[in-house]
Amino acid sequence: MNELENQLEYIEKCKKLIERIAEEKGRSLTACISTFGCQMNARDSEKLTGILKQAGYVITEDENADFVLYNTCTVRDNANMRVYGRLGVLNGYKKRNPDMKIALCGCMMQEETVVEKIRQSYRFVDLIFGTHNIFRFAELLYRTLTETQTVIELWKETDKIVEDLPVERKYPFKSGINIMFGCNNFCSYCIVPYVRGRERSREPEEIIKEIRALVKDGVKEVMLLGQNVNSYGKNLADPISFAELLRRVHAIEGLARIRFMTSHPKDLSDELIEVMKTSPKICRHLHLPLQSGSTRILKAMNRRYTKEDYLALADKIRKEIPDIAITTDIIIGFPGETKEDVDETIDVIKHVSFDNAFTFIYSKRTGTPAAAMENQVPEEIVKEGFDRVLKVVQETAKKQALLLQGRIESVLVEEPNEHDPSLLTGRMSNNMLVHFPGDTSLIGSIVNVSLDECHGFYYFGKRVEQ
Ligand code: 5AD
Ligand code: SF4
Repeated sequence: MNELENQLEYIEKCKKLIERIAEEKGRSLTACISTFGCQMNARDSEKLTGILKQAGYVITEDENADFVLYNTCTVRDNANMRVYGRLGVLNGYKKRNPDMKIALCGCMMQEETVVEKIRQSYRFVDLIFGTHNIFRFAELLYRTLTETQTVIELWKETDKIVEDLPVERKYPFKSGINIMFGCNNFCSYCIVPYVRGRERSREPEEIIKEIRALVKDGVKEVMLLGQNVNSYGKNLADPISFAELLRRVHAIEGLARIRFMTSHPKDLSDELIEVMKTSPKICRHLHLPLQSGSTRILKAMNRRYTKEDYLALADKIRKEIPDIAITTDIIIGFPGETKEDVDETIDVIKHVSFDNAFTFIYSKRTGTPAAAMENQVPEEIVKEGFDRVLKVVQETAKKQALLLQGRIESVLVEEPNEHDPSLLTGRMSNNMLVHFPGDTSLIGSIVNVSLDECHGFYYFGKRVEQ
């Protein structure tokens, strides 16, 4: 029996068990998944939800449920802290519902110190698994429901990719697609290569097959996901470039939009720029993490490009694809960073005029080379640099947004506006949001909207008939 068949069998076993428990209790059983961190985790959670749903759980957003799973992130320490805080609350629920099962998975669980802490101080946790064996969730769920002691299964690595397990999408009209797993870059601050393992690409045929099925099921927009999509396919038996994969995805009939994340500047090819330029379905958005604008810091970060390399690349992209939005990630407070280094970062932000940027305070991750560096930056200096960077990012983002004033853009309508239900929220090709009056029946369709009023990062507008 192959792994897929094995797991499908466990789903059936769980289903019988859950039906029986539900009958005993006289009500259906509920399950809740809370996701921390990035788009990869969000996609993993859709797969985990698919399994829970097929096993017979009613999915809820209320953490006071019969089965609660935290899909954790450990890229920065604040995400870890939130998990510990919320586990305390879950314990309270469990006291009132002793049959409740609490499970933890994701990147944080790949750290030995974390698992040790949970074993010692959070003994009410029933299941712990990691990133490499996520495809074994159905089997682990079954064990959790039938065994009394905590089930812990952690793998150090894997070369397996199990295809075709059930998935439950959060949005009917858009979906993430994993094209690769892991990362080989070892940026010196980053824990991802340690918790997500080495780079593995999915076969292009599997990716295309999955997207075709999604399109048939109503998906209009896909987001191709990988830690470093620009090195996609290099290690396949039959190597293929990311640009070539994009060409093949572009050819899928019925698919309207393609996004991808994340691009490493050192691997971004001219071939990719050319494909983006000539493929109307590829969204006008490139997320290109800068991390720092100082060549000295970039070297210490092991990013393998200089300030000048980044500027030249950004200039080339802006020249070739003028309406593209370039967004980025920036870390402030990397060991040894001086005021002058932050000035260099600000210089790049102004030059590239980023459409948006995520700014992060450097977080020391145990086991990474940067954590052992001696010259950690004092908190007040980091804060000062962070505030300066944020201010400039806000200025360039606003400047870029204002360039669109008065234009008519096609948007994918995603949801009702959070604050005003008479408004809808749509996403433009360049990833910016616009809020406009409309009926919820439009959700999932692509419509034209005029960009009337700029509010910094987003617009208010009106629907314009095609
Ligand atoms: N501290 C702060 N930010 C980090 N990132 C990754 N590791 C760290 C860290 N140790 C940021 C990078 C990356 C984004 C996903 O998270 O900017 O691009
Ligand atoms: Fe981390 Fe660098 Fe890999 Fe991104 S490319 S996941 S920052 S090691």
